[in-house]
Amino acid sequence: MEDSAENAHGGVNSPDTEDHWCLDEELPPSKLGTKEYWDSAYEKELETFKDIGDVGEIWFGEESMTRVIKWMKKAKIPQNASILDIGTGNGVFLVALADQGYKNLTGIDYSATSVELARNILLAEGQTDATVKKVDFIRCQSELESFDVCIDKGTFDAISLNPDNAKESKRLYVESLKSVLKDKGFFVITSCNWTKEQLVERFKEGFELLEELPTPTFKFGGQTGSSVTALIFRKVH
Ligand SMILES: C[S@@+](CC[C@H](N)C(=O)[O-])C[C@H]1O[C@@H](n2cnc3c(N)ncnc32)[C@H](O)[C@@H]1O
Repeated sequence: MEDSAENAHGGVNSPDTEDHWCLDEELPPSKLGTKEYWDSAYEKELETFKDIGDVGEIWFGEESMTRVIKWMKKAKIPQNASILDIGTGNGVFLVALADQGYKNLTGIDYSATSVELARNILLAEGQTDATVKKVDFIRCQSELESFDVCIDKGTFDAISLNPDNAKESKRLYVESLKSVLKDKGFFVITSCNWTKEQLVERFKEGFELLEELPTPTFKFGGQTGSSVTALIFRKVH
């Protein structure tokens, strides 16, 4: 099992460049913004899982899941709350949530191989409380019901790197989020490509920032910063 704590998206959020960004600048396009990249990554991970049982990459490391689960407990999110993991990848977050007693879990991903991998891992872990579906979140229209909590770990980052039309993809992401999250529902995002200020700006229409979760900090050139941002938003009218 690998942990990926560094900026895995090509180092685009290195501390020396961040200062020059305006609030909603586009990121340089990357293969990590393409479905082909994820299909081929999960094909390899699926093969490895079948061979040796390794679940593959955990984006931003195990602590990125622990941090969110800790907040959910503090916020007293009921165990029967409906929870959506947007861009679930290998579905390991669903396993961690199920281990904590959450029972109404859905994971979606636009990569069919991710869905297969996540289903295999859940099965191997004996978890039957989670459903995994192949859904393109930015084109999901009425494919999904509404949820009490939506979790995103690295998916908005990936969508922001779409080489075809990142600007439109980000706009569609916010629209989809508005349609699948219940009023007053929580949106929990972990990002390595966007700062707190940039995320607040991006989600200002329809969402209010409730809390920033503490993440590890680093020092660079005498300045202290975080390589990962974790925020809790609430949907407002
Ligand atoms: C950086 S990975 C994070 C995976 C997982 N959330 C984790 O923390 O391990 C980004 C994930 O987003 C998925 N993804 C990207 N664009 C998507 C979209 N439009 N709809 C659904 N999933 C998408 C990718 O297939 C990939 O699994």
